Amino acid sequence: MNCARIAVLVSGGGTNLQALIDAEKSGIIKNGKIELVISNKAGAYALERAAKAGIESAVVSKKELGSHEAFEDAIIKLLEDNKIDIIVLAGFMVILSERFTSRYPKRIINVHPSLIPSFCGEGFYGLRVHEAALAYGVKVTGATVHFVNEIPDGGEIIMQKAVAIKEDDTPESLQKRVMRLAEWKILPLAVEKVSLDIISK
Ligand code: GAR
Repeated sequence: MNCARIAVLVSGGGTNLQALIDAEKSGIIKNGKIELVISNKAGAYALERAAKAGIESAVVSKKELGSHEAFEDAIIKLLEDNKIDIIVLAGFMVILSERFTSRYPKRIINVHPSLIPSFCGEGFYGLRVHEAALAYGVKVTGATVHFVNEIPDGGEIIMQKAVAIKEDDTPESLQKRVMRLAEWKILPLAVEKVSLDIISK
């Protein structure tokens, strides 16, 4: 295998997808290639980022397909048709079932905007994670990249990076800093690490 074939699953703005696209261009990711972007939301800006980078994309809507099972089956078909090796969840706001995750052991990677095991699991996503960190009063937070298994945010940790909280932080300011200083750095590094591991097997 020359390069691990990567699919990125998104739901929103796609700044983490952009970090991966940029890392591939700059050579930080050299053993993997983003072949496909899948969004569960039709209007997601991440789809425009994919188009601008010339990456094939697809929208898979749970609402249109009628059930979670049919939704996951449609994603599995796309992954199989495209011979995908690594699935990256980059701001993908859907919890995948065990039926799905058990098909891809150590092949699904997620980025989460806290230092797991703090502020993670069901209900902790996006801005809510930073609201919870500020409400608790922690002085340090960060981001985690981990493998995905049947436990939400419970799979093996691949990489983490800490970010200091400032006195005047709002959830929005903290979210931006955690993205810039942690997520956009460790996600590409983790994807490169897993790509290399896969192609070396
Ligand atoms: C990111 O902060 C990501 O870590 C978080 O959503 C944001 C998506 O931003 N993911 C989760 O909370 C998953 N539990 P993006 O679309 O700009 O990459």
